[in-house]
Amino acid sequence: MCGIVGAVGKVKNYSKFVLDGLASLDYRGYDSAGVSFLNNNQEFACYKVVGTVDDLRKKIPNKVEASSAIGHTRWATHGQPTLNNAHPISSMHGLFNLVHNGVIENYRSLKKKLLEKGYTLKGETDTEIIANILEYIYLKNPHDVLIAIERLMKILKGSYALAILFKEEPNKLYFAKKDSPLIIAESEKASYLASDPLPLIKYSQKFIDVEDGEYGYLTKDVIRLLINGKEVEKKYTERNLQLLNKDLGGYSDYMLKEIEETPQVISRLLIKYFDGHNFTFDDYLLNELRNAEHITFLACGTSYHASLVGERYFRLLGKRSETFIASEWAYEPIFSNKNQVFILISQSGETADLIKCQKIINNRGMINIAITNTMASTLDREATFTLYLEAGLEVAVASTKAFSAQVTLLALLVSALFNNTSVIESLHSLNNVLLNIINRQEEIADLANEIYKYNLIFFIGRGSDYIAAKEASLKMKEITYIHSEAFPGGELKHGPIALVDNKTALLAFDSDAKTDLAIRNNAKEVETRRGHIYIISIKELAKEGDAFNVNFVSPNLSVIPMVYVSQYLAYYVAKNKKVNIDKPRNLAKSVTVE
Ligand code: AGP
Ligand code: GLU
Repeated sequence: MCGIVGAVGKVKNYSKFVLDGLASLDYRGYDSAGVSFLNNNQEFACYKVVGTVDDLRKKIPNKVEASSAIGHTRWATHGQPTLNNAHPISSMHGLFNLVHNGVIENYRSLKKKLLEKGYTLKGETDTEIIANILEYIYLKNPHDVLIAIERLMKILKGSYALAILFKEEPNKLYFAKKDSPLIIAESEKASYLASDPLPLIKYSQKFIDVEDGEYGYLTKDVIRLLINGKEVEKKYTERNLQLLNKDLGGYSDYMLKEIEETPQVISRLLIKYFDGHNFTFDDYLLNELRNAEHITFLACGTSYHASLVGERYFRLLGKRSETFIASEWAYEPIFSNKNQVFILISQSGETADLIKCQKIINNRGMINIAITNTMASTLDREATFTLYLEAGLEVAVASTKAFSAQVTLLALLVSALFNNTSVIESLHSLNNVLLNIINRQEEIADLANEIYKYNLIFFIGRGSDYIAAKEASLKMKEITYIHSEAFPGGELKHGPIALVDNKTALLAFDSDAKTDLAIRNNAKEVETRRGHIYIISIKELAKEGDAFNVNFVSPNLSVIPMVYVSQYLAYYVAKNKKVNIDKPRNLAKSVTVE
């Protein structure tokens, strides 16, 4: 999930473009960062750090004379985060410098061939193999970089978005794309590329989404796109730029900002998908869903948890519905002999595991509905229909507002199938419940002052509260690094309760009168084994001693406030542990590698 940027032509300040561009992409990975400038004397100037873009900023002169430049912020897949593995990577004879987002699956066999031909390698990345294969092809064939790239693409297996500088052509920026995102932008005097639009929106409003198999080059005033040696027509795409605002707005970190943006996101969804009298979803989409006999959700991580809620919604309508983790389904695809519709949920729209599933579905000519926060993402462009989350940029690695947006959108979509407008009122009252939680977050911070000391945290729930428990556990794990697990309330006694001791915390979600007694009994079972229990309940079910309770909301939406409390809880526990909240270790925001 690295981030890449590049520019060629008259850029006012190349250092600023690359560094600010990488800073806006560092949510995609922050193991190392680097930049390569190429000037008109055909000299590379390369700077790299094992660390963040801020560390790189300290190494680069404020102003650099360049005709072109490429930059990279890395999430390592092949080779530790070391200087030799940091991008940009140079080919052995120094003809090419390139940056790469993706994973080359056949790099081992290609590496063997290179070593047999006398190439020596400095690092362990698959990217270094790309750079040297490209150079090898270039030196062996008519010295034509475009032909060399075309041949390279026939050899490589796997995913790549490449930005390539060729020493002898400082006024050209080459690129190639397969399965990893790449966007081009043009302005009066320069051309740019990046993994997503963020680095580009200050420089251009005209974007081109490079498609799989396309390659070419940019100059200050030319964009050449080819596929298999044939010119491809440029297709410009629009983007909702105000939703790409990355300002922190006075918050200390993106996660807190994005948690607190949730009510306005829900309001935006109400406006987008309901005009005050009727739902405004596409009729053809609604009919496809009404006629479908089998709804299959595919997603990863937090989006998978939102999918589980969607699965329940369709099941409550009497439809057969199921959810699979995308990386599992991709290798054992299950198709129904019924009229089946797939719903693919992804905040980034670039999750490789899910894109892999979408390709399989499209190859069978079946319908897939994308629910995503990222317009013109791969998932969006390859979907039969797309429903946008309108959540605005989500920068923190921990997904928060996107989860609530996903569940809200699913509730609106399912209600629209039968024109059940009661959901509108429920969502308005949900927003009031969330605002109440925002105003009481100090109580959650106090709870976090206790919770952060534990080294094992269990979350339990029944029904949709179990989904809340799964999402709460993921948040806790990924930003506090405390080992946490989620279980259906009734499952603890079938084994996991053996782990409980006086250093274990148990958080139980209790939002459903049907399961109130049972889940409290499950919590009691832990307490009698010296575990410390904390009940998160709705006011109607609250009892003396509960850790926190939320105002009533429609049972079908209670997962949102339950998860909302857990987002704040994880946030404040992480604050206590003084870890990097927006960029947790080992993670990245958009997982564009398998
Ligand atoms: C959630 O907090 C995590 N960052 C992660 O599980 C994420 O939900 C997952 O990678 C899926 O991302 P997507 O929604 O962009 O596909
Ligand atoms: N595979 C490349 C590396 O390990 C790029 C990784 C990525 O795109 O996350 O450096």
